[in-house]
Parts: sequence; structure tokens; C-alpha cells
Amino acid sequence: MNSTLQTIVEIRPMQSSDLDHIIRIEREIFLFPWSLGNFADSIKAGYVCQVLQQTNTLIGYGIMMMSPEEAHVLTLGIAANWQGKGWGKKLLQHLIEYAKSAHAKSVFLDVRESNYSAARLYKKMGFRHIATRKGYYPAMCGREDALVMQLML
Ligand SMILES: CC(C)(COP(=O)(O)OP(=O)(O)OC[C@H]1O[C@@H](n2cnc3c(N)ncnc32)[C@H](O)[C@@H]1OP(=O)(O)O)[C@@H](O)C(=O)NCCC(=O)NCCS
Repeated sequence: MNSTLQTIVEIRPMQSSDLDHIIRIEREIFLFPWSLGNFADSIKAGYVCQVLQQTNTLIGYGIMMMSPEEAHVLTLGIAANWQGKGWGKKLLQHLIEYAKSAHAKSVFLDVRESNYSAARLYKKMGFRHIATRKGYYPAMCGREDALVMQLML
């Protein structure tokens, strides 16, 4: 295990009081960030909203929507200066375990075609590219395709 991962971290449910912090990370790491309202609505809707916290520092978050047989990861983010240290993988693994415990048969997510680092993480975790949504995301120059990825549980 990477020595960084031996640091004590907690994965816990997201609270409304986390949103100011989350939105600062969100704006730092996404060109087209979610609004604070998108996060607040996700909590209100009862989605699986989790944060990754090291001591008092919130370093990442993930949101997953559950339906009877499927789970959909809606967003996953790690603060810029914490990226590349295994935290994204840890948080995604936590969401996958949650989906398994809820008896989901598969986990789906969408990723921008240009987001190679995220797609690489998902492939390493066993996700497979199963479809493409043409022009799904806004982009700096027009629109960008989304790769739909699935992990069979
Ligand atoms: C994508 C993201 C969640 C990954 O989290 P992370 O903590 O940086 O990634 P990890 O350190 O857990 O990396 C896990 C694996 O992903 C791959 N990976 C992660 N960042 C990478 C990069 N910049 N380049 C290449 N591969 C990368 C590595 O293969 C790594 O595998 P390894 O452990 O064998 O080295 C994070 O980088 C992030 O928040 N990015 C910006 C927002 C975003 O794109 N979110 C996903 C939207 S679908």
C-alpha cells in the first residue's frame, strides 16, 4: 500500500455544512462545475453523498444514485493538491462496496472522453466502456462526448 494511504482518513455522509468547502474544490477541479444547489439537491434527494476527510480537512467527495438493481456514480472529486495519491480510488471503492451491499448488479458512470486520468482509474477498477453519448457535455469549443462505463458487481 502507498504510504500516503496509511494516513487516517474518514469517509462519512456529506452534510449541508460541507457544501461551501465542496463547492470551492468543485470550482477548482472542474471546468464546468456543479452548483451548490446541485449538491444540496442530491443530499435532499437521498442520494449516497459521501465525503473523504483527513483530520479536519475535507479532501474529496462522491455522489451515487441508487435504483433497485443499479447504482450511478454522478460525481467524484478529489481536491487538486490531493490528487494522484490513491484517494479517488479509495472513495470509488467505498461507493462500489455500498452498491454491492445494496444488492446492485452493476455500477454505471459517465466520463468525458478527454478525461483520460479518470477513465484510466475506472478501467483499473474494472469498469468497461459500453456506450457513448454524443455531445453530452458542454465544452470550451461546442460539446464533448460522454463515455458510459459499467462495472458488473
Ligand atoms: C479523477 C479523480 C477522482 C481520481 O482521483 P485521484 O485521487 O487523483 O486518483 P488516484 O490517485 O486514486 O489514482 C487511481 C488510479 O487512477 C489513475 N490516475 C489518477 N490520476 C491520474 C493521472 N493524472 N494520470 C494518469 N492516471 C491517473 C492511476 O492509474 C491510478 O492508478 P495507480 O494507483 O495504479 O497509480 C481525481 O483526479 C479528480 O478529482 N479529478 C478531477 C475531477 C474529475 O475528473 N472527476 C471525475 C469525473 S468523471
